[in-house]
Amino acid sequence: MQRLDGKVALVTGASRGYGRAIAERLARDGAFVVVHHATNADAARQTVTAIHAAGGGAISLAAPLDGSPAGIDALFLRLDRELSAARGSSTVDILVNNAAISPRGTIEETTEALFDEVMNVDAKAPFFMIQKVLPRMPDGGRIVNISSQTSLIAFPGVAAYTMAKGALDRLTLVAAKHLAPRGITVNAVLPGVADTDMNASWLRGNPESFAAASVFSAFKRVADVTDIADIVAFLASYDARWITGQLIDGGGGSGI
Ligand SMILES: NC(=O)c1ccc[n+]([C@@H]2O[C@H](COP(=O)([O-])OP(=O)(O)OC[C@H]3O[C@@H](n4cnc5c(N)ncnc54)[C@H](OP(=O)(O)O)[C@@H]3O)[C@@H](O)[C@H]2O)c1
Repeated sequence: MQRLDGKVALVTGASRGYGRAIAERLARDGAFVVVHHATNADAARQTVTAIHAAGGGAISLAAPLDGSPAGIDALFLRLDRELSAARGSSTVDILVNNAAISPRGTIEETTEALFDEVMNVDAKAPFFMIQKVLPRMPDGGRIVNISSQTSLIAFPGVAAYTMAKGALDRLTLVAAKHLAPRGITVNAVLPGVADTDMNASWLRGNPESFAAASVFSAFKRVADVTDIADIVAFLASYDARWITGQLIDGGGGSGI
């Protein structure tokens, strides 16, 4: 018996990076995983194939998020249909709000269009994902928001992203208190830098950038995606039932 047997997890942005690692880990723990993504069908297929190859259950669901509640309603209507076909029910026990974008931009460089896009994808979408998942989530459900160390340590080069992650952290607190009577826990994990596509332009293949990013962690390395996936798997489990409203360091002991 695995600890998430019988549970259904919806992981946004699960085609690549942290989201893929989280999806694979939750599936390994027994959850049936909905591999949400924007448009990269090949990458989503790879996540689903890896889960199936390991003996798990998963389907993919493409739905670019722009924060609009109508778009998220449409996502859930399709999810209802496809989950019911696969599982006989549209219950979602675990929601991981992981999908995000992180375009560079200081305060001076950030246009209104860029600001709105980041806030819509990184802050507004998680808000309405939570609102819309609630009727489908049983008591005792789990919500994990993937935030960032940027909401703790100032990185002026990603100003709008930082602000959006700060908003996500506050959403975590208010949702945790609001949903506690139902036994639903809501926590945020704040990862440090990892070598995902999000950072490819400045990190990948660049030893100097790796060295600079490594100093933030007490372990003096960047994160592996599994470092974060394992934290999320714990928060998603029954064992974490007494933990809610917490902003959990995923930076490998950053700032200690
Ligand atoms: N990587 C880091 O160093 C780092 C550090 C701190 C926090 N984080 C956080 O960790 C999470 C995952 O980051 P990552 O580095 O794994 O990202 P990534 O490699 O860039 O992958 C992004 C994922 O989100 C999906 N996505 C992007 N925009 C979307 C949209 N508008 N609608 C729906 N899905 C969308 C992508 O789908 P497609 O494949 O279809 O495009 C993909 O699955 C994010 O919340 C990020 O802020 C990352």
